[in-house]
Amino acid sequence: MIKSHGLNHILNSEGNMETTTKNTILLNPLENPESKATIDAILEKYQEVPGSTMVILNELQNKIGFVSEDLQQYVADYLHIPVSKVHGVISFYSFFTTKPRGKHTIKVCLGTACYVGGAPQLIEKIRQLIGIGPGETNDDWTVTVEECRCVGACSQAPVVVIDDEIHGRVKPSTIAKLLRSVTTEPKA
Ligand code: FES
Repeated sequence: MIKSHGLNHILNSEGNMETTTKNTILLNPLENPESKATIDAILEKYQEVPGSTMVILNELQNKIGFVSEDLQQYVADYLHIPVSKVHGVISFYSFFTTKPRGKHTIKVCLGTACYVGGAPQLIEKIRQLIGIGPGETNDDWTVTVEECRCVGACSQAPVVVIDDEIHGRVKPSTIAKLLRSVTTEPKA
């Protein structure tokens, strides 16, 4: 069970975290009966299908919102395959996450054009402004910061993707305005 600042969090329909005022919501999906039932249903559905590991992990990411180390082990045990095989898939595809995300996701592109164009400085500025860097989520679960690979908008480098919206030619001096749109709205 994970609690934070007296608040607890649940996954919304998009697999993102929402803060609730309830006192006991589990973040470990294997300890949450509802999530566990969802996980088992996915595994049961595909367990006899050859080569279904990727499909299973994909559904878990979509339905649960992340595939934690514990969940990877659970999948490996269920399918009788080495956990290294599951871990290999998770770490190869950037689509997968091993931790729950905040309500909004800020991705900084670290492809070559964006890196050269100033992406590291943007990451530094984000850290200054909201106190978190890549792979981290803020305390009230509103924002997760991530790095990503080229999103195909190199001509607008450096690029920041907020939720699914691409923002080009972002500068350390202009990123505060972008962040404000996801950090000052009323919390869910
Ligand atoms: S390198 Fe960032 S969009 Fe291509």
